[in-house]
Amino acid sequence: MKVLFVCLGNICRSPIAQGIFEASLKSNPDADSIISFVDSAGTANYHIGKLPDERMRKTAIEHGFNIDHLRGRQVSEKDFEDFDYILAMDKRNYENLMKVCPESQRSKVSLFLSHHETSNLTEVPDPFHGDEQDFIDVLNLIKHGSSSVLNKILNDAAL
Ligand code: 4NP
Repeated sequence: MKVLFVCLGNICRSPIAQGIFEASLKSNPDADSIISFVDSAGTANYHIGKLPDERMRKTAIEHGFNIDHLRGRQVSEKDFEDFDYILAMDKRNYENLMKVCPESQRSKVSLFLSHHETSNLTEVPDPFHGDEQDFIDVLNLIKHGSSSVLNKILNDAAL
């Protein structure tokens, strides 16, 4: 299985989701054997080739994750073929993905938090114009959402 996390810029939410999800695979051999590739991308082209946002990288390190090796890229049409799960951080990203997603691949695309049953939130808020606490809140929300996504994928694989 291949999993793609998508936000707007690919410098805040989706890279930390990728980092957290990859870390969870390292400690879960069953999941690691099912999921062969994890990546992240942005619907916008603003930050292609750029490091994740400095504030996100700092918050990541403070919570035991390192995302300094990641670089921004934009979603491409090929992603809809290549990936099995495409997880959008908010509704705007979801809608923009659906606008370009081929009909046959639409079931691959979902809202990241739609798999997190105990959350009242349906979207991961964009922290770009926020403060330090917003980045911490986003990381914690994504941590919970990421474990729900992993459970969903493992459940699907067991069917
Ligand atoms: P992200 O956050 O979508 O979580 O990576 C953003 C990063 C950059 C911008 C917006 C959101 N921007 O407008 O440049």
